[in-house]
Amino acid sequence: MFYEKLEDALNVHDLRRMAAQRLPKWLFEFVDRGTEDEVALRNNRAAFERIKLKTQVLVDVSKRKQEIELFGKKHGMPLGIAPTGPAGMLWYKGELELARAAKAANIPFTLATGSQTSMEDVAKLVGGTLWFQLYMWSDVRMSHALVQRAQNAGFEALVVTVDGPVGTNREYNVRNGYTVPFRYTRRNTAAVLKRPGWLFSVIMRYWMSGGMPTRANYPEGMTEKFTHVSSAERKTKNDSLCWDDFGVLRDMWKGKILVKGILTPADAERAIARGADGIIVSNHGGRNFDSSMAPIEVLAPIVDAVGSRTSVIIDSGFRRGSDVVKALAIGAKLVMIGRATLWGTTVGGEAGAARAINFYREEISRTLAYLGCRGVDELNRDVLDRVPTPHLPLTM
Ligand SMILES: Cc1cc2nc3c(=O)[nH]c(=O)nc-3n(C[C@H](O)[C@H](O)[C@H](O)COP(=O)(O)O)c2cc1C
Repeated sequence: MFYEKLEDALNVHDLRRMAAQRLPKWLFEFVDRGTEDEVALRNNRAAFERIKLKTQVLVDVSKRKQEIELFGKKHGMPLGIAPTGPAGMLWYKGELELARAAKAANIPFTLATGSQTSMEDVAKLVGGTLWFQLYMWSDVRMSHALVQRAQNAGFEALVVTVDGPVGTNREYNVRNGYTVPFRYTRRNTAAVLKRPGWLFSVIMRYWMSGGMPTRANYPEGMTEKFTHVSSAERKTKNDSLCWDDFGVLRDMWKGKILVKGILTPADAERAIARGADGIIVSNHGGRNFDSSMAPIEVLAPIVDAVGSRTSVIIDSGFRRGSDVVKALAIGAKLVMIGRATLWGTTVGGEAGAARAINFYREEISRTLAYLGCRGVDELNRDVLDRVPTPHLPLTM
């Protein structure tokens, strides 16, 4: 099988294409695609393309800084790794690889509840700035036990994801054979056989070192195989959870606590009223609710409402350094990346994730130069042709 090499990738789109060459179709699509008609997925990108930046010439920009400070800590650049469930299915122990790349870049790494490597292993074997993402279970005692574990393991921040009150409707997963629980069909088995590299370097390696990957953070007795739906899994989507449940977590958690999945100033206000230290403006990368607004287009009103009282972070659809610059100019403190670093991990483990991070670093630097800025701290809304709003038509 001929693979394009990691070194040949020039941007994250190349990493995406290379990931498609390596993964079975159902796994690639699980990472790559959106939900239902994928309107939110497309709109996340279209929203960035509508925003233009004002150049400024003949400024000495020979030294351009990307360091930022967040929650009293310095970071190498304004990027963080968003929580994503399947890194360990894309590369053997992929979470460790991704976390190592984040540590080397001195940026936060968020471990997902559903990851295949345990939080204790990530803390022990890698370290760095570690955040833990929590999906609240309807049995809140299970969630509280997880929170306690994350605290004991030394995670600095708890990211509570709130944008999945019910399961999402990813019809392509059904079509391509990636259902939970996983059922072997002719189609999904054929897709695996077409990717022997993945089968041997990821799945066989797990097999040879003790068995198929599990949801390693799930409570005792529930760490079932990644391909099975566990009773814990069934309980993660909970349409009865409310702000009081978040309030309990706030009281329990001693470190910083963030709410992920905010898209309106009103919800941002509620998060602050309940003691959140930060909010993550996100539509889950367009994966959950297909009629959701593009985070970059709701960022300005949210920053205006709560930006002086809390750290506003954003994700969803960032593929270029210039996208990151746009968000920082509007007022975000940090941008989180989901798919792009997963594609990098798929192609080259730590080196691949590092390459993805480096693309953003180089592109941010280049964009700053065109804007006549010597550092990300000089960015403000004056560099935008207009402050984006959510009220524009999908295409202009
Ligand atoms: C394959 C995949 C799995 C994800 N799993 C989780 C998860 O377990 N918890 C969570 O809060 N967000 C999850 N997300 C959403 C990301 O944290 C993030 O919001 C999103 O990927 C950002 O958009 P981007 O992929 O365009 O960068 C997942 C995203 C992807 C692509």
